Amino acid sequence: MEKRCLRFQDISVSEKMLYSLFLMTIGIGYLFALTHMYYTHQMRDGEPGMSIQDVMIAYYGSQDQTRLGSAINGGPMEPNLKSANDKEKILVWLSTGKSKAAFEQDIAPILNRDCTLCHNGETNPGLPNLTNYEGVMEVASSKAASIPGLVKVSHIHLFGIAFILLFVGRIFIYCRMNVTLKRIIVVIPFLSMLIDTLSWFITRNNPSFAYVVVASGALMGLSMGAQIIISLYQMWVETFHPKLWLSASQQQLLKKIVISFEQIASPIVSSSKACVLKFAPIIWLQLRVAAVQVSLSLYHIVRYQLHPKLNLSVNNQLKAQQYKQTLTESGYSVWFVGNGWLVKESVLTWLFFNSIDALEHYIQHLPYQASASTEPSEYKV
Ligand code: HEC
Repeated sequence: MEKRCLRFQDISVSEKMLYSLFLMTIGIGYLFALTHMYYTHQMRDGEPGMSIQDVMIAYYGSQDQTRLGSAINGGPMEPNLKSANDKEKILVWLSTGKSKAAFEQDIAPILNRDCTLCHNGETNPGLPNLTNYEGVMEVASSKAASIPGLVKVSHIHLFGIAFILLFVGRIFIYCRMNVTLKRIIVVIPFLSMLIDTLSWFITRNNPSFAYVVVASGALMGLSMGAQIIISLYQMWVETFHPKLWLSASQQQLLKKIVISFEQIASPIVSSSKACVLKFAPIIWLQLRVAAVQVSLSLYHIVRYQLHPKLNLSVNNQLKAQQYKQTLTESGYSVWFVGNGWLVKESVLTWLFFNSIDALEHYIQHLPYQASASTEPSEYKV
């Protein structure tokens, strides 16, 4: 005999009340979480309101938002500088690699003249020490999110949200609906939460991943919201029996209201349902593609971070030039980053090659070298 799963009409009213209160509390909690996010991030780029810039600065940092940069650029320390030219010099140094050689030559003389009277580590130990390179670097870092900080937030986030999604999803499973759609709606919040958390780490190195952070975060919110609203609707509105609660005339009136409401709402509902059903498989496919691309890129970024600097012979430098051109002509972007080559295949796919041979091998096996305009192979999964 076929086993039938439980639906909302099979559970008791007290259970439904418990579930409803839980779902509503989670929903309200989520709105507070959004508000909290707004308050903590919105002013990061100096402009009111949330923007993608705020998210980039939160994880990647920003070169002109270092403590040193903001202290002398409109901050309280600016009047101490004897010439505006020197301010530019320091800001340029901050945004061009902050090398020690350039520091000794251009920056140290300025600081020694205008700043070390107070910032010398002795007269006032509480102030940043600006007499040497190490001391200055402490206020010159770009404030990217720290790895230990992100690890901490990630584990709390994943543990906490996994439970929320488990319970919300468990209740949502009582709904009656197309089973493929239901499976997708159950999986999406988990997937997007994982992608979201991963992309915090990637955004530290690559600010354009802030878009993935925002998109996956929004997707998680929307899919969880959909679970809550659909569950509440099926629990109370669909299983509502007017006979038990209302007099005959009230039932008549209710019927009239419902019918006129349905006349307005049903075309909207059915067309949006058709739309969702039509696009669900496509979205699902794209999500899988994106997940593969993101994990691949992550793997390559880790390799890039871990690899030591390359020492190229003259011959290999020439080869590298040539390969770069070939790749650019086939529609890829290539960066040589000291310890290897980063090749951008698509928005989300970045490959890392740690030797000229690996790069050569990759180029020889390019699937569509001839045409620059075709889509990368990942899209043909
Ligand atoms: C007259 C003493 C004095 C001089 C000169 C001085 N500072 Fe300061 N500086 C302070 C004091 C006091 C603070 C801490 C008060 C604060 O944070 O506003 C401070 C704080 C700072 C900070 C830390 C701001 C933060 O984010 O906490 C930086 C960076 C800084 N100064 C840079 C400079 C530079 C660069 C110069 C030279 C152009 C300079 N200071 C000259 C007294 C001085």
